[in-house]
Amino acid sequence: MRIGILGSGLMGGKLGTIFARAGHEVVFSYARHKAKLEGLARDAGGNARAGTPGEAARNADALLLAVHWSRVDDVLAQAGDLSGKVIVTCSLPMNADDTGLVIAHTTSGAEELAKKVPEARVVCAFNTVPSEVLFSVFEDRRKATRPSLVYCGDDAGSKEIAAELIRDAGFDPVDAGPLRIARYTEPFALLVGQLAYEGTEGPELAYRFEWLG
Ligand SMILES: NC(=O)c1ccc[n+]([C@@H]2O[C@H](COP(=O)([O-])OP(=O)(O)OC[C@H]3O[C@@H](n4cnc5c(N)ncnc54)[C@H](OP(=O)(O)O)[C@@H]3O)[C@@H](O)[C@H]2O)c1
Repeated sequence: MRIGILGSGLMGGKLGTIFARAGHEVVFSYARHKAKLEGLARDAGGNARAGTPGEAARNADALLLAVHWSRVDDVLAQAGDLSGKVIVTCSLPMNADDTGLVIAHTTSGAEELAKKVPEARVVCAFNTVPSEVLFSVFEDRRKATRPSLVYCGDDAGSKEIAAELIRDAGFDPVDAGPLRIARYTEPFALLVGQLAYEGTEGPELAYRFEWLG
């Protein structure tokens, strides 16, 4: 697939690298310096390059949205026409100092994003995993037991694409249902982050859901 990365920081930089190493064509975009995007493309190897958000969006089969909530409008404006595009978002609707969600309970960042770009097809994924574990999960991807990763969305075709990317990154995709389920995965992502950074159990929690029943 051709994948555009909108936001090439901790999440976008790592996931874009993983997607390139898994064989996808990747365009890294949206960082403060072009040299950073070029370095990521060089290090990713495979078929990766640096570009503008508009170039990342053009002909993309999927876009990864990985920017701070305060940058969403800006990067979407730069990306241009997103008609029919699959947007996989890991962006959490965090406040300026990243201490809390600005949207929760009755809606979610993913749903608000879908309202901003009704012409696109939004899937919420990768937000429940700390960026620190992404490379090691990818490296272990051939192990029999894969860590689970929940995703949700309203469009079956775009969810299939997201599930393929989740598998490529080394996770077992768990379809959590429609996009409104992001109301529950986004606060859950904060729990995982809190445990990962302040305790010792977070990565395990992000890793595996055992099926009940
Ligand atoms: N990090 C995690 O473990 C994690 C886990 C789950 C969800 N998330 C969510 O994923 C999203 C991305 O998080 P992240 O940790 O990857 O953030 P990040 O490392 O800060 O990356 C954000 C990207 O946006 C770029 N950017 C910021 N301001 C810009 C501007 N004015 N012009 C151009 N580019 C600009 C940054 O550029 P530079 O590269 O130049 O800084 C960076 O490439 C957030 O919504 C976060 O809540 C993060």
